[in-house]
Order: sequence, then structure tokens, then C-alpha cells
Amino acid sequence: MSDTRIVINKDNKISDIDDRLYGSFIEHLGRAVYEGIYQPGHPSADEDGFRQDVLELVKELNVPVVRYPGGNYVSNFFWEDSVGPEEHRRTRLDLAWRTTEPNEVGISEFSRWAKKAGTSVMMAVNLGTRGTSDALNFLEYCNLDTDSYYASLRRQHGDEPFGIKLWCMGNEMDGPWQVGQKTAYEYGRLARETAKAMKMMDDTIECVACGSAHINMPTFGTWEREVLTQAYDYIDYISCHQYFENKAGNTEDFFASADDLDRFIDTVTSICDEVKAQMKSDKTVNISFDEWNCWYHTLDQDDERMKKEPWGIAPHLLEDNYTFEDAIVNGLALIKFIKHSDRVKIACLAQLVNVIAPIMTEKDGGAWKQTIFYPFMHASLYGRGSAIACDVTTDTHSTAKHKDVTDVEAVSVLSKDGKQLTVFAVNRLTGEDAAAEIKLEGFEGFIFDSWQALESDDMLVTNSADEERIAPASKTDYEYKDGILKATLKAASWNVIIFKKD
Ligand code: AHR
Repeated sequence: MSDTRIVINKDNKISDIDDRLYGSFIEHLGRAVYEGIYQPGHPSADEDGFRQDVLELVKELNVPVVRYPGGNYVSNFFWEDSVGPEEHRRTRLDLAWRTTEPNEVGISEFSRWAKKAGTSVMMAVNLGTRGTSDALNFLEYCNLDTDSYYASLRRQHGDEPFGIKLWCMGNEMDGPWQVGQKTAYEYGRLARETAKAMKMMDDTIECVACGSAHINMPTFGTWEREVLTQAYDYIDYISCHQYFENKAGNTEDFFASADDLDRFIDTVTSICDEVKAQMKSDKTVNISFDEWNCWYHTLDQDDERMKKEPWGIAPHLLEDNYTFEDAIVNGLALIKFIKHSDRVKIACLAQLVNVIAPIMTEKDGGAWKQTIFYPFMHASLYGRGSAIACDVTTDTHSTAKHKDVTDVEAVSVLSKDGKQLTVFAVNRLTGEDAAAEIKLEGFEGFIFDSWQALESDDMLVTNSADEERIAPASKTDYEYKDGILKATLKAASWNVIIFKKD
């Protein structure tokens, strides 16, 4: 049994957490939209064709912001085809995922869905095949109430302004797979001029510039520096994307890979601050970690399908069926984001429904929760307020590709009303439980309230439409004496431990 001591001192505040740390993402990809959030004729569909069973699960996750409509899809997205009466909606080929897009759901429908889901929209503009003038037309259509052409067009279509506050300047623009890939200089200039012009039209918006598509890109680092140098004055965030995978079947190394996020976030933060210093700017650019998740189960079969059966409408793509160990990795990633909440202000679990998603749908059946649903739900529900660092004394171990891996990772969050302290903790050893002692310092009147955990001996167990094998359980085998909680964190477990005061 590994021994761990966690001390949480109220003075060790990391940062206020931006609620948007618990964002997500819906792309026009596979069955995310059609048969996902939207399926007229389904028994649970409402008057707008939105599946209410899906809406209920999205509400359970309490997602504050949803990125839309891509992803790779956005780099050849013609927004005009997705607005107005049915006869104006053009059917288009989507080159990113080699599918046919009917444009039945567009900006107006998605905004209506977001309202029903209790979330806000993070919109992306096409900087792959289009540019500044198109982004301006799009912004005018979405946000303005002037007597100009696109604002009037939206009114003719029967909509009030959508009031979209957060805008992505394209997506993964250094990726060779991206339609309209650019060099850092080309993209930096375009992002700068587009964000500048958009803010001239609506000075209430915030803009996210694309960082490198991932940390292993040959362009990583130099891309961020050049893009920030060009666009610093006009953008508010730079994006990071990361997908975890366990193709090697090495669970402990998979759990350790969450540490890569520390290096990733620290590097991008340093580059932001280096450019800030160079520009002699007072402004701080933060991170929008707007794609993260596990993604590897379906990669080969998806490549095959896109090659052999192109141009289908809403085919089954990226429908990873998540294992227990994937849920633990996602829990670890959430702990890292909370630990870095001083600079990571937005994060989007990619994605939300059917496509690498916590929520799945059956075309002729119900909606169900994947294993990864739960850590995200816990963090979104209990992870709002201020992040407080945990002083964790724990052993370390090495894995195939990682050294000095802490056995236990933990962080805590003090709720906005100051009455609840939640500790999120993962034991990342696979063969050993961890005997943990948790002590609070400076939290007058707080007492232990509850402990929930995700546990399994089988790392590869999954949920399905028929059976929910992984779900949180309330734990009662603890000792709480003299303000110290003693609890055994099971090998490979996600733990949510709550202290409250009246
Ligand atoms: O989320 C799936 C895809 O992953 C997105 O479209 C793209 O931005 C990333 O490469």
C-alpha cells in the first residue's frame, strides 16, 4: 500500500476558475449533429427536432460553452448555406471528414439548441478557404442589430441577434490535413487582421488564435511565437489541443501521460509571456484548451470508412467506446486544468455527443453515458470557484515514457459561496491502493461530507446502451477523526471528496 498525505491550506489559492474550463464541442462531423443533438421524428424529439434525452444529459454536465461548428470542418464552412429558409440551404461536401453536409442545422438552429441546453456558443470562423470579409459578414449576421445587409437578413430569417461573445480564428491552421493550411506568418497576419476588424465591428467579443495543432507538431513553439508576435494586440487566447491514447496498452504510462499537459501548458504560457515582454504590453494572453480528450479506439476504422465509403450523411465516425482507464485519464486531465487555471481559462472536452463523446445515442433507442461522462460531470459541478493547491506527499514511479510520476495526483476547489471544498484525487498506480490522509488548514468550520469514486479492477470495461458498468459509487469505508480523513484510494481510481461548512 502506498502512503499519501494531502494537506490543503486555504492560503494556497492558485486562481479563480473561469467556468468555461468545463466547455465542450460539437462539430458537423459524423453523428454529432444529425442523430446526435438533432433527430426529427425520434420519440424524444421536441418541436425543433432536438432530442430531449440528449438535452437532459447535456444539462447534467452543466456545460457553460460549446465550440461550433468545427474543428476541421470549419476550414471550408460556408455559413450562408446554413441560414434562412430550407430552399436556400445548400448541400455541401465536407472535405475534412469526406461527408455530405445537408445544412439542415445551422447557426440559428444551433443557437436555439444552445439556449435549450443552458449553454453559450463559442463560434469559429473559416480562415482556411475564406478570410476577413467573410468573418465580418458572419459576425454582422450573428451579433449586430443595425440596418445593414447581414443584420437585416438575420431579422428577415426571424432571429434576434445571437450575441456570440467568443470567436475562434480558424482551426489547427498549421496542420497539413487542414484545408487552407498556412505558415505561421501567413496565419498570424490573417488572425490579427480578422480579429482586429471583428473587434472594430463588435468590441464586446473575445478572440482565440490557433496554436499548433498539438505539442508534437514540428511547428510547435515557433508557430506560437510567430502567431503571437503578429496578432498579440488583437487576440485574447491562444488555443492548445491534446488527445491521449493508449495504443501500446500500457495503463500506467497512459495515466502518466497526463503530466505531458504540464509541459504543454507551461511552454505555451512562457511563449505568451515572452511575446508580452517583447511587445512591452500590459495585456496577458491566456490559453483556450479547446480540444482535449482520449481518442484512439476508432482511428483506423474511421480512415478506412472515409476512404471506402465517402460522402455519406452523418456516418458513424469517431465513435470511440470509452474504457474505464480512459475515464481516469480524463479525470487526471481535469485535475491538471484546475491546477493551471491561472492561465487556462477555457477548455473544451472534444466532443459532446456521439463523436469522441461522453454522450452517445442510439438511432432508434435512447441516449447513454460513456465512462468519461462522470469525471467531467464531477469537475463541472464541483469544480467552480477557486482552485486551491494540495500539498501532496506521495511516492513517485517511472513508466515506459515518463519519470517521477506521482502515485497520487490531487487538487481542490473552494466553491463560489465559500461553503464547500471539493478534493479531486486520482491514484494512478494500477496494482496498489493508496492509504491517504487528508487534512485541511485554515478552513474554519469545515467538516467531511461525502466521498464518491469511480473504481474498477478491469481497466478496459466500457459502458453501453444496455449496461452502465462504470458509474460513481458512494464510499463509506473511511475514518474521520480530529479533522483528519483517512481513506484508501483504490488502485486506478477517481475520487471526489467533499468537505462542507454550514
Ligand atoms: O475533434 C476532432 C478533430 O480533431 C477536430 O476536427 C480537429 O480540430 C482535431 O484535429
